[in-house]
Amino acid sequence: GLKIAVIGGGSSYTPELIDGFIKRSNELPVKEIHLVDIEDGESKLDIVGNLAKRMVKKAGLDIDIILTLDRRAAIKDADFVTTQFRVGGLEARARDERIPLEYNVIGQETTGPGGFAKAMRTIPVILDICKDIEELAPNAWLINFTNPAGLITEAVHRYTNVKTIGLCNVPIGMVNMVAKMLEVDSKRIKIDFAGLNHLVWGKRVYLDGKDITDEVIEKLCDGGSLTMKNIPDLKWDKDFVKSLGMIPCPYHRYYYMTDDLIEEEKESVKTGKGTRAEQVLKIEKELFEVYKDPNLNQKPEQLEKRGGAYYSDAAVSLISAIYNDKKEVHTVNVRNNGAISNLPDDVVVEINAIVDKTGAHAITVGQLPPEVNGLVQAAKAYELLAVEAGVTGDYGTALKSLAANPLVPSVKIAKKLLDDIISANKAYLPQF
Ligand code: NAD
Ligand code: G6P
Ligand code: MN
Ligand code: MN
Repeated sequence: GLKIAVIGGGSSYTPELIDGFIKRSNELPVKEIHLVDIEDGESKLDIVGNLAKRMVKKAGLDIDIILTLDRRAAIKDADFVTTQFRVGGLEARARDERIPLEYNVIGQETTGPGGFAKAMRTIPVILDICKDIEELAPNAWLINFTNPAGLITEAVHRYTNVKTIGLCNVPIGMVNMVAKMLEVDSKRIKIDFAGLNHLVWGKRVYLDGKDITDEVIEKLCDGGSLTMKNIPDLKWDKDFVKSLGMIPCPYHRYYYMTDDLIEEEKESVKTGKGTRAEQVLKIEKELFEVYKDPNLNQKPEQLEKRGGAYYSDAAVSLISAIYNDKKEVHTVNVRNNGAISNLPDDVVVEINAIVDKTGAHAITVGQLPPEVNGLVQAAKAYELLAVEAGVTGDYGTALKSLAANPLVPSVKIAKKLLDDIISANKAYLPQF
C-alpha cells in the first residue's frame, strides 16, 4: 500500500484532502497517511487529525492516520509527499497583506510583495524538506500546494533533485465555475490553460469538444461570476476581454484592476473587516470548533468559505493519474520544455499536461500573443529573481526581484517594502 506524508497536516484543508483519498480509495491503495506539523501547530494537528481518523473509520477504510512532529520519519519511504504548510502562520500573512498597503501597493498572499515575503519565508523550509526527501525517499513525488505555488515549485526544480509538481485549485475552480455559468455538468467542460500560477489564461473553452470560448466570454462580461472566495468579484471590461479572446483567471484582476483592488483592500482595513488573513483567522476559529465535534465524520460545508475549494479533487486525482499511469490531462505547474515557445525550456509554467507514471508532460501551446506574453515575461523574471533571493539572501537580488514585480511602482518603494519585509520577518529569514 501507499505511504503519504502531508507536511502542514494541521491545516484546515486536511479534511478536504482526506475526503479526496476516501473518494478515490477504489483506485488508490493508501495504507498510511502521516500528518506532519510543528510544535506551534500541534493543537490544530490533534483536532484535524482526529477528524481525519473519524472520516476514514466512517468510510470503513483501513488507512492508518499518523499524527506526528517527526518529519523525517514521516518522509522515510513515502510514495507521495504533499505540502500545505504556512511558515509564520496567518499572523505573518496578515503582515504580508498590510505592509504593501502602506505604500499604496496590492497586499495579497501570493501576488506582489506579499507573495514575495511568503516566498522568502518558505524557500528555506521547502529546500530542507527536499533534502529529507532526497535522502529518505528519493523516488517520492512531491506535490506542492504551498504558496506562492508556482514560485516554490520553481525553487524546488532549480535547487533539488526531487520530482515535483506544483498545484493550484484555480484551474479546476475555473472549469467548475464555467460549468455553473452554462448550467452543465463540469465533466463536459475542458479548458486549454497556459501561463503561470495565479496568472493563467483559459485560451479555449470546450463543451463536449465544441469550442464555446466566445459564448463564455459573453457570459463572463454579462454578470457571470468567475472568482475565488478570497478575491472580490470585480467585473471585467467587456471590450478588453472580447479583444483578448481568452478567459483571464480571477487573479488577473490584481494586474488589470490594480487601482480598484487597492481601494477595496484599504476599505476592508478601514471598516474593520480586516485583510483576508484577518478574515480567515475568524473563519478558521469557527472551522476548528466544528472539527472538534466528536460526531462529525465528514468534510463540513463551512470549509467552502475558504479559497482552497476543490484542492482535494485536484491533488488526489493527480496522485492517482501518476500511480495508475493514466495519461490523463491535468493543469499543473511543471517544467515548460518548449510548450510555451516564448519562455525558456527550464522554467516552471502552469499548463495542461499529460500525466503518467513518469510525471507531468506539458502540452505544446506555441507562442503567447503579445498582451499575454508581456505580463508572463515580467512575472517570470520577478519569480526567477525571487527564487535566487530566497536561496541566497542577497539584498541586491531581492531588491531587483521586487523592482521587477509588475505590481511594484518604483525602486524607491521596492526598497522600503524590502526593508519592512525583512524586519517584520526576522524570525523566519535565516538566509538574510
Ligand atoms: P495554515 O496557516 O493552517 O498552516 C497549515 C499548517 O502548516 C499549520 O498547522 C502550521 O502549524 C503548519 N506549519 C507551519 N510551518 C511549518 C513547517 N515548517 N513544517 C510543517 N508544518 C508547518 O495554512 P492553510 O490556510 O491551511 O494553507 C496552507 C498552505 O496552502 C499555505 O501555504 C497556503 O498559501 C496554501 N494554499 C495553496 C492553495 C493553492 O492553490 N496552491 C490554496 C489554498 C492554500
Ligand atoms: C485560492 C488560491 C490559493 C489562495 C487561497 C486563499 O484562491 O488558489 O492559492 O492562496 O485560495 O484562500 P484563503 O481562504 O486562505 O484566503
Ligand atoms: Mn511504498
Ligand atoms: Mn492557488
